[in-house]
Amino acid sequence: MIDIQKLSTNAAKLVVKSKGILAADQSPESMNKQLKAVGVPEEAEMRRLYRQLLFTTAGIEQYVTGVIMHDGTIRNHTDEGVLFSDLLISKGIIPIIKVDKGTVPHTNFEGEVLTQGLDDLSKRLVEYYDMGARAAKWRAVITIGSTTPTVENLRADAFLLARYAALCQEAGIVPMVEPEVLFSGSHDIKRAEAVTTQTLQILFDALAEQKVDCRGLILKSSMVIAGSECTVVSTPEEVAEATLRTFKNAVPEDVAGIVFLSGGQTPERATENLNAIAKQEASRNDLPWQFAFSYSRGIEEPVLETWQGKPEKKGAAQEALIKRLRLNSLADTGSYDTTMEAQ
Ligand code: 13P
Repeated sequence: MIDIQKLSTNAAKLVVKSKGILAADQSPESMNKQLKAVGVPEEAEMRRLYRQLLFTTAGIEQYVTGVIMHDGTIRNHTDEGVLFSDLLISKGIIPIIKVDKGTVPHTNFEGEVLTQGLDDLSKRLVEYYDMGARAAKWRAVITIGSTTPTVENLRADAFLLARYAALCQEAGIVPMVEPEVLFSGSHDIKRAEAVTTQTLQILFDALAEQKVDCRGLILKSSMVIAGSECTVVSTPEEVAEATLRTFKNAVPEDVAGIVFLSGGQTPERATENLNAIAKQEASRNDLPWQFAFSYSRGIEEPVLETWQGKPEKKGAAQEALIKRLRLNSLADTGSYDTTMEAQ
């Protein structure tokens, strides 16, 4: 028997108006790439120092309800030996663990991938719960191309997501299901909407089949937006309209909350689009869900660029973090304006 009361209470603590979830769960390999891009040595100690910089920033709890971490990060600690998970809990922030183990090619389906990580998942979840994790993330990757995604790929990924979500709920952990429809590509916004709608419909069918209770589940979604290579750039209003219509057509009303990934949009654009979504949400009364941001690159890019691994830049990098969090917090209530970027 799952404790749905406990799951929905924790989900509600995570998806709160004017707050968000920091996705600091880059794998060591992706973190290394991001460090290298700003000239920082690709070393475990630099990754630890970077996470320490993020998590020790004074006041993040004002804007952040939860932080998503990779396995290596949740086990890591500050200079003083305080576990990152304990540090976050002491600030009232909920530790979230990324539990998938990345993607592998989908055999027989050229250009498509499936997410792996179900082996031993139950065992790992028990350990993560003991470390304080109350939610867990799993990311599926959907690529829009001339022949992708196939319905077979969407179904297979949906089953994996549903199975992981059921195991999370069994362990008292809120699943944060993330079917990311990639921004890269030349598709227009209509195609993005069709693919995202189909992805979500197939996903929620699979979740229902595995008897996952949506009241104790968070959807982490991409925004519906024309691809990065599309000649017609989507306006924030178009993104908001298409994204909200997609959710209306595909997401059950009892889902506990919906959070957004930034997906490779610039930090400013991710904030502007969130703001447009919140504005439209406020102007209508047919949307049952709470929305929040859950960005990684959309929050961290300016932090890394400012820090560059230099101890003397730590304070400025932490200021850059607070600035992005504050602007996204404003955007989550529709009160952001691009002129605030210069302040
Ligand atoms: P981005 O905001 O960089 O897309 O990352 C969010 C995330 O959690 C991806 O899994």
